[in-house]
Amino acid sequence: MFNALVVDHTDSARTVRVQTLDASDLPEGDVEVEVLYSSLNYKDALAVTGRGKIIRGELPFVPGIDLVGRVVASDVPEVAPGDVVIQTGWGLGETHWGGYAGRQRVWARHLVPLPEGLTPLDAMVIGTAGFTAMLAVQTLEEHGVTPDRGEVVVTGASGGVGSFAVALLARAGYHVVASTGSASAHTYLTRLGATRIIPRDTLGQGPQRPLDSARWAGAVDAVGGATLAAILSTLDRHGCVAACGLAGGVELHTTVFPFILRGVVLAGIDSNTCPNDRRRQIWKRLAEAVSEDLREQILARIISLEAVPEASEAVLAGRVQGRIVVDPRA
Ligand SMILES: NC(=O)c1ccc[n+]([C@@H]2O[C@H](COP(=O)([O-])OP(=O)(O)OC[C@H]3O[C@@H](n4cnc5c(N)ncnc54)[C@H](OP(=O)(O)O)[C@@H]3O)[C@@H](O)[C@H]2O)c1
Repeated sequence: MFNALVVDHTDSARTVRVQTLDASDLPEGDVEVEVLYSSLNYKDALAVTGRGKIIRGELPFVPGIDLVGRVVASDVPEVAPGDVVIQTGWGLGETHWGGYAGRQRVWARHLVPLPEGLTPLDAMVIGTAGFTAMLAVQTLEEHGVTPDRGEVVVTGASGGVGSFAVALLARAGYHVVASTGSASAHTYLTRLGATRIIPRDTLGQGPQRPLDSARWAGAVDAVGGATLAAILSTLDRHGCVAACGLAGGVELHTTVFPFILRGVVLAGIDSNTCPNDRRRQIWKRLAEAVSEDLREQILARIISLEAVPEASEAVLAGRVQGRIVVDPRA
């Protein structure tokens, strides 16, 4: 028997509550894990509150797009009982029951072994957010955005993706400009490595002209909408923006000028379906780059399953700095 946060519906309402389940309730899969930790991402907050159509599996449904767990049973030779494994994405918490449960059944092909140098808790401080940030950093590198090219801007900087992007870029030697709507986050962002901080509105008001003065060699954008359009209009020649998120909007109104007159690259980031070879390589990089003090700085708090709905509201209201880890056994 174990606890799980279950999204369900009655005739009149959608319900989200902690329930006691047993292994016979779990979905199909070839590996059963004791979930050690999960985390609370923006996408989880949308799923739990029902404010975004994230859950595409049938109800009742267990959300949670991240988990780290100890294998208790396996039908496949490549995963053995006692192994500690990570799953982020591949539909976890969207089409397949997720990490907000004491036990879960998953598919071996979606798992990555816990990399050397990380504890299970570390893995969920990082979670989808840190993984996405490293994917974004690597994407900038792959498009030739090197530290000597100029400033790189990170939007939604005090959130999960943003915090890791600021820290990872700073540790790689980039001059990082953090764009934030949170006045109380300035000290936090400076400690993570931001060399300059700009108010959210600077980019959030959208482009002033289709092509404006070039300001950024690159960008990691967790906000989307008018902010992404403003970044495109102010990227330097052959710059690149790694587009990760939609915290500020899903529409993109731009022109072709940044692409055909400056050769800028709009690179999409999708952590959910990132191929497993690249996944393992990104996790290895994370284990090397994310130090213990950084994980401590970025961990906002560890919460129980009961606390997830209220914390989800705080995430969507932009009141959370850094990352929330979920302990399903608390
Ligand atoms: N593509 C992928 O694979 C992938 C993976 C993970 C996440 N994401 C997306 O990336 C975004 C960030 O995810 P997260 O987990 O880091 O979320 P998060 O921790 O909630 O961070 C989002 C940040 O965006 C800023 N923000 C919030 N509301 C805003 C608004 N209305 N306008 C402008 N900025 C706003 C806030 O930062 P400041 O207060 O500092 O401005 C907030 O902390 C989300 O849209 C998420 O869906 C995508």
